[in-house]
Amino acid sequence: MILVTGGAGFIGSNFVLDWLAQSNEGIINLDKLTYAGNLQNLSSLTGDPRHIFVQGDIGDTQLVSQLLEQYQPRAIINLAAESHVDRSILGPEDFIQTNILGTFRLLEAVRAYWVELESDTKQDFRFLHVSTDEVYGSLTLNEPAFTEEHRYQPNSPYSASKASSDHLVRAYHHTYDLPVLTTNCSNNYGPFQFPEKLIPLMIVNALADKALPIYGDGQQIRDWLYVTDHCSAIRRTLEAGIPGETYNIGGWNEKPNIEIVQTICTLLEEFYPDRAFHNLVTYVKDRPGHDRRYAINALRIERDLNWKPTETFATGIRKTIQWYLDNQQWINDVQTGAYREWIEKNYTELEQ
Ligand code: NAD
Ligand code: TYD
Repeated sequence: MILVTGGAGFIGSNFVLDWLAQSNEGIINLDKLTYAGNLQNLSSLTGDPRHIFVQGDIGDTQLVSQLLEQYQPRAIINLAAESHVDRSILGPEDFIQTNILGTFRLLEAVRAYWVELESDTKQDFRFLHVSTDEVYGSLTLNEPAFTEEHRYQPNSPYSASKASSDHLVRAYHHTYDLPVLTTNCSNNYGPFQFPEKLIPLMIVNALADKALPIYGDGQQIRDWLYVTDHCSAIRRTLEAGIPGETYNIGGWNEKPNIEIVQTICTLLEEFYPDRAFHNLVTYVKDRPGHDRRYAINALRIERDLNWKPTETFATGIRKTIQWYLDNQQWINDVQTGAYREWIEKNYTELEQ
């Protein structure tokens, strides 16, 4: 079995579904079910004995140790995290708690389990830590894309907390020989993404005839990767990655935010030819400390692990929009009172 943390979140639920579609190896899914965790994403697995869901915190050493003893997983995929930059700006504490302290406690529990394993199982064991390109900081327009050697220079409480967890993971390899792998991936998009991140927020707002808030001048650049490509990269890294190595994962899809939003409007207008979604674009105050550009050089994973993305932005964004159109009930269900409060808080600040 493998133990996946954060498997009810956006990438986690895609990973769990994808894994079980391709393999019969079971998953223990440990997730705290914060606002971002949603068991509805996994409803197609109801009654499937290969999926064991446990609600809990990666920082709960007793629980994690008990799960490790009981299920003896051969690998951990650590996806659990607080993941939204804007939330980290308004309230960094949860990010420190889960991303730093939580990862540390998880590493400690895993180390205690791993040292006791028989030599073959011990050698084959892997701790795969899923991280972000945001740890590298911001690039100017002409600088080369981030390689794995790029210095860490995180700029938001979110990226600083992820950078911190990456350093801990690295240290557990260097000091204790724990067989770790770290992946640093660019911005994901696709089904089940919570509508507080750029792409789903724009789709959901457009469908509801609400403003499409563009921070600053909208010329900030991100690299975008369709989520199932991220899942296949994680699987491939688990299978063939060298312990102690880090792998950058990206889609070779650098785009300014405004272009992303215009593409969404254009595609939605194909579905609703009578509506003028472009008119909803609204420029708002910029995010504090907003990183200008992220770009990933994904040549190491291509060369060493023979991994490449299969979706282009054009194919991925079409699938994503289609998914949100087909899943209105999911959208309604995640837009609870707490969601509405968050949207109001964030965007009222940005209007001031
Ligand atoms: P998400 O916010 O959608 O999901 C995070 C999940 O972790 C949720 O299900 C939540 O309930 C769970 N969780 C939070 N705190 C927990 C805790 N203390 N213990 C157990 N579970 C906890 O995030 P996501 O977008 O799916 O990102 C998953 C991972 O991938 C994160 O580590 C993130 O930093 C990383 N990442 C995300 C992106 C992206 O574009 N979304 C890109 C690169 C890397
Ligand atoms: P986001 O999805 O929050 O990811 P990240 O900040 O981790 O890259 O945002 C992607 C980009 O879109 C980022 O440059 C901020 C911008 N953005 C907006 O312009 N408006 C919005 O309402 C949101 C949520 C993001």
